[in-house]
Amino acid sequence: MPTPPRKIHLIAAARPNFMKVAPLYHALARRGDAFAPCLVHTGQHYDPNMSDAFFRDLDLPKPHHFLGIGSGSHAEQTAGVMVAYERLCLSDRPDLVVVVGDVNSTVAAALVATKLHIPCAHLEAGLRSRDRRMPEEINRLVTDAISDLLWTPSVDGDENLRAEGVPAEKIECVGNIMIDSYEMMRARISADPGPAALGFRPREFAVVTLHRPSNVDHRESLGRLVDGLKSISERLPLVFPVHPRTRKKLEEFGLLSGLAANQRIRIIEPLGYIAFMALVQAARCVVTDSGGVQEETTYLGIPCITLRDTTERPITVTEGSNRLVRLEGLAAAVDDVLAGRWQTGRRPRYWDGQAAGRVVDSIARWFERTGSPTTAR
Ligand code: UD1
Ligand code: UDP
Repeated sequence: MPTPPRKIHLIAAARPNFMKVAPLYHALARRGDAFAPCLVHTGQHYDPNMSDAFFRDLDLPKPHHFLGIGSGSHAEQTAGVMVAYERLCLSDRPDLVVVVGDVNSTVAAALVATKLHIPCAHLEAGLRSRDRRMPEEINRLVTDAISDLLWTPSVDGDENLRAEGVPAEKIECVGNIMIDSYEMMRARISADPGPAALGFRPREFAVVTLHRPSNVDHRESLGRLVDGLKSISERLPLVFPVHPRTRKKLEEFGLLSGLAANQRIRIIEPLGYIAFMALVQAARCVVTDSGGVQEETTYLGIPCITLRDTTERPITVTEGSNRLVRLEGLAAAVDDVLAGRWQTGRRPRYWDGQAAGRVVDSIARWFERTGSPTTAR
């Protein structure tokens, strides 16, 4: 009897997850004889422009399961996903669960799967900022400690895992799957009229994205950031698609109206993937604290000013176009960009648009090696 397709849950929860899940979903769906990919959306991000827009842009079908968890404290959100996802696994047991990135839903789903003895794979494993005040660092450590398969985006991830004592056979460097999304959508990104429609000429503006709690959650740090942005905008106009966390804080601290009144700063709603990447691709530089944006700018060779003390993606600094900059150094960093004193960098190994294929091969080999039973038996 032929083996029925293996049911694989792909956990998607928040904006940065969708472009990691999409290429894998499409690659597994093309192998429908062997795999039955199933999208599970936890509902951690739920605004249309933080969720639905990405399903449209990345040609994803409606999620097969929607857990509707929404916002809350760390415990509320993590526990909410655990309770709802456990229920789903008990009624619709998958052969493999794939979690991506480092959000609360990632660790929650990994905990549920492993406790039910369902194999769990982590895509984007091994990244470490070594800053445990970042909630994502806790999520990464726990997810990697309990997952059965660890797919890293770059070799520094392998080194981190080996240094933590993870057996070599669990680790595989598959490359950066976000780049697959970019390559998949490259033609539509390049054809997007967004930058011109916003009145920007190529290389004559900067894109800003900020949402880390350490930057935006406190009045003092957010106030200083707003002043820093106003100051650099005198030399380079800015477009700032504002993350909902940041918008809420800007409003709460009475900082939004001053920013919106500035003629050199365009405050806009969060953008879909295609419109956002079209802006990044045309920008002179990017000012960010995002994880994914550090990687996308490295791939595109666009100067990236990362307003953080640490990064879990050091390869974007050592090989790419990223620099970690403190707020005091923001103006000097913009000077360097404008004077051409910035590294263009190179693309790290396996950031080539082929990561999803390597993941699918790894899954096939893993099922062969473990002879893991299927749900249908
Ligand atoms: C989360 C992730 C972070 C990731 C970011 C990507 C965790 C701990 N954090 O941070 O790693 O970098 O997503 O964007 O998992 N909100 C809305 N609408 C939405 C979603 C959120 O209004 O669709 C608002 C709510 O007020 C919410 C706040 O944003 O309380 C924060 O959302 P949450 O998902 O808890 O964390 P993020 O800051 O988005
Ligand atoms: N992004 C987007 N629209 C925006 C801002 C970001 O499509 O307005 C995309 C972008 O491709 C980026 C990804 O969302 O790589 C990552 O999201 P975010 O910065 O929220 O999360 P992080 O990567 O920091 O976890």
